[in-house]
Amino acid sequence: MSQPVRTALVTGANRGIGLAIARGLAGRGIRVLAAARTLSAAEETAHTLVGDAVGVELHLDDPVAAEARAVEILERHGPVDILVNNAGILAQGHGLDAATTDVVHSLMVNTASPYALIRVFGAAMREAGWGRIVNLSSGWGSFDDGLAGPTAYSVSKAALNAVTLALAGDLGPRVKINAACPGWVRTRMGGEAAPRSPEDGADTPIWLATLADDGPTGGFFRDRSLLPW
Ligand SMILES: NC(=O)c1ccc[n+]([C@@H]2O[C@H](COP(=O)([O-])OP(=O)(O)OC[C@H]3O[C@@H](n4cnc5c(N)ncnc54)[C@H](OP(=O)(O)O)[C@@H]3O)[C@@H](O)[C@H]2O)c1
Repeated sequence: MSQPVRTALVTGANRGIGLAIARGLAGRGIRVLAAARTLSAAEETAHTLVGDAVGVELHLDDPVAAEARAVEILERHGPVDILVNNAGILAQGHGLDAATTDVVHSLMVNTASPYALIRVFGAAMREAGWGRIVNLSSGWGSFDDGLAGPTAYSVSKAALNAVTLALAGDLGPRVKINAACPGWVRTRMGGEAAPRSPEDGADTPIWLATLADDGPTGGFFRDRSLLPW
């Protein structure tokens, strides 16, 4: 029996690691909904992907609006089997130098909007009995590693890790939800000195997005290996 064609929604698909994830998934025969802040960027990205990729506009500054938009996307484009919460922002400032506005904004984009997308798409996956959710996290969001990054970023990624663990039980064993650290990657966020290419950074997220049915859920991974929270 042939496998069903899966649909994956990738946020921040227009550049960086998100683009490499979108390319990798499309190359594996998965239909990609390439999400970006502007429809033109989303459609330009979709045109570069193999298969029936579609561009969708999706802003993540306001989680309530993102949740409503996710419902529209579901109605317009059908079920999303794989959700990759890739888009993110990195605000500077350590400790008390982190601006409160940056902490709030980071929590909206990096944590609450991914949560909102999981609520919509994850609920439909649970209903359908199959799903994969990947949250792009960071070693800087690891308590075990001392939350060592800029504070707004570390706090928001630690909270995204918490979302990953907190929702794993409710989503059930057939919907796998995992967090991934891509390592230090050459993108606008990572900068030119980073040792890894976007394709290197995309490897673990793609692996988690395409896990077999006996794969893990509720974990945190880098280089396909489990990390402590
Ligand atoms: N690069 C690294 O070394 C590294 C390390 C650890 C974790 N990560 C994580 O990996 C993920 C991808 O990082 P990257 O390096 O590829 O970042 P990037 O090059 O800065 O790309 C970020 C993406 O997120 C989108 N985005 C930002 N704010 C948004 C918003 N409010 N609404 C919708 N989309 C928004 C951007 O859209 P625009 O093009 O419109 O700005 C862009 O597509 C992030 O979650 C990041 O935290 C990266």
